[in-house]
Amino acid sequence: PAQRKHASRQRFAADLSQCLYDLVIHLLPTLEELAVKEDVRKLLERLIRTIEPDSRLLSFGSTANGFSLRNSDMDLCCLIDSEERLSASDLVVMLGDLLERETKFHVKPLPHARIPIVKLTLDPAPGLPQGIACDIGFENRLALENTRLLMCYAMIDPARVRTMVLFLKVWSKRRNINSPYKGTLSSYGYVLLVIFFLVHVKNPPVLPNLQQMPPLRSISPEDTHLNGYNIWFFDDIDLLRQRWKSSNTETVAELLIDFFKYYSRDFNYTSGVASIRSGLLKKESKGWVSEHERGSPRERNRLCIEDPFETDYNVARCVTRDGLYTIRGEFMRASRILASRPDRALVAIAQLCE
Ligand code: GTP
Ligand code: MG
Repeated sequence: PAQRKHASRQRFAADLSQCLYDLVIHLLPTLEELAVKEDVRKLLERLIRTIEPDSRLLSFGSTANGFSLRNSDMDLCCLIDSEERLSASDLVVMLGDLLERETKFHVKPLPHARIPIVKLTLDPAPGLPQGIACDIGFENRLALENTRLLMCYAMIDPARVRTMVLFLKVWSKRRNINSPYKGTLSSYGYVLLVIFFLVHVKNPPVLPNLQQMPPLRSISPEDTHLNGYNIWFFDDIDLLRQRWKSSNTETVAELLIDFFKYYSRDFNYTSGVASIRSGLLKKESKGWVSEHERGSPRERNRLCIEDPFETDYNVARCVTRDGLYTIRGEFMRASRILASRPDRALVAIAQLCE
């Protein structure tokens, strides 16, 4: 019976892996969508240069890190290379006026937000059935760097890493646990949970720790630091692919099943911090004790995920008590569905994303 159970588990995993690949392929953005988005970026860049001639408009977030689903929003960051420049809030106001006059976008400038941005939306049109949603921010160089880090992790093992991440994005959106504004976790947070799991939980690891690999040649601190944060990581992916081969041969389905098991049973939410730079840390050692225990109405550190560069920043700070309860409930539900191994993997996926 043990042998039969093992065989059935293997069959289910193989089947599920194939279904995950098929599903994800159909959810990738089309070439046409990517081309339209690139045109939009160029158009916006041209307009911004009428205000700040020395500026560049760069993509970050999912459009640039390889974890993009069809119709995902565009995150753009404006970098200004001149010494004298307007403040971010002034730029937001001016750019808002300009875009309102010159384009068909619906424009919403948010000059007083913690990070000032201009929000843009474009109505659906033929060839663009879902329209476009786009945020433009300024000088957010750390976001460009963390985008590049995630992209490098995606490129080391695209089949397994991208498939897992994209599936979790679909799943978390379908299950309504992907809204930081409502107390659950951002996509960025879920991606970090996946990478933490693949670097630090799986043994043997599926991914190396890019931030702890020795550099090929010595580099000066000016080149590795930005706003006081160490942003160095090993980014020569061609070389890495030649030199580093994971001895972990699990299928994407086996990894996914284990991912749900780990975050529903094993991760210590009360005291643990998931850090892709340093592995599992303690809330206490980072001073991230739960503020609710000190009688504060704000909830910041229920779930703790350390940003890879801004290590004093908890990416999951928006997750509330109820939000975490819901997220953990969803991890458990997913784990239960996969453990029950329905006859067909497709049924499992449909149930998971119901
Ligand atoms: P979708 O928009 O759902 O497709 O996901 P996404 O991959 O674009 O992720 P998200 O919108 O959550 O974040 C976009 C980018 O913003 C990330 O890749 C990060 O570069 C940056 N970002 C988002 N949230 C944070 C955060 O809390 N801290 C920091 N430092 N950067 C963040
Ligand atoms: Mg995004």
